[in-house]
Amino acid sequence: MPAQGPRVVSDVPALRAAIAEFRRAGERLALVPTMGALHAGHIALVEAGHRVAERIVVTIFINPRQFSANEDLARYPRDLEGDLKKLAAAGTDLVFAPNVETMYPPGFSTQVSVGGVSQGLCGAIRPHFFGGVATVVTKLFLQAGADFAMFGEKDYQQLLVVRRMAADLDIPTKVIAVPTVREPDGVAMSSRNVYLSPAERRVAPRLHQVLQEIASAARQGKSVPLAIDAGIATLKPDGFGPIDYLALCDAESLTPIIRLNGPGRVLGAAWLGATRLIDNVSA
Ligand code: PAJ
Repeated sequence: MPAQGPRVVSDVPALRAAIAEFRRAGERLALVPTMGALHAGHIALVEAGHRVAERIVVTIFINPRQFSANEDLARYPRDLEGDLKKLAAAGTDLVFAPNVETMYPPGFSTQVSVGGVSQGLCGAIRPHFFGGVATVVTKLFLQAGADFAMFGEKDYQQLLVVRRMAADLDIPTKVIAVPTVREPDGVAMSSRNVYLSPAERRVAPRLHQVLQEIASAARQGKSVPLAIDAGIATLKPDGFGPIDYLALCDAESLTPIIRLNGPGRVLGAAWLGATRLIDNVSA
């Protein structure tokens, strides 16, 4: 028998009414914010949600405020029908799929801006990005009032930004980190991987390998700057470029470091043709 599909709502009153029913039954709620074009990485968030809550609410919204004018908003993959099938199979109770006017009605003027962990790495290269993410995620958290919200380590800096935002604004939703789901060759699953040509897809695993090499150098007490230079020298001939950053950072503050002194994270972002890949590993 086919799994029953999730109920889909597209406005905030309908979302709140459906959630109120769960609450009346005393059920806990896990929120899974996404931009759709779902893959196994997103489904891992749903599965992690099932481990902590009775009800799962997935949001699907391609948030224009986190794309700058020259980015891929127009061509970002969209597949609501396919997404709903995957969510039905994974067990999802409710999908919130608002349109842009619902989230940002005329006159919308508020921006949530997170300092600290937002500032380096992707925040330095894409200055609009974390303000757009923090604004939409704050809205989703306040709209849903969930007990838990599931975020992937794939977007490690985003995870820390959202955690900081929820703590600073006293939003009681607990942010839960879910490990990165990878293809068998190590490539981190991403909705944007569909942009890669077959030739680019073949070399894409090099980014993850280079991050692991830098992490391993750091763990062995070898020179991290030399390991980063070696990583750049490996990626360039494979067609990666520009390389936005390769960095070893403190895993909590995201401050760049050159030797480990507690938990670290190696993060990288690089273009491969017309696709920007990001990934990270622990060190
Ligand atoms: P999106 O890229 O659709 O990702 C939604 C969630 O899935 C994020 O928490 C992301 O880290 C997680 N995710 C993506 N790929 C993953 C993988 N391979 N393994 C584990 N988790 C993975 O991130 C966003 O959307 C947006 O910025 C959003 C938070 C929805 C705000 O608009």
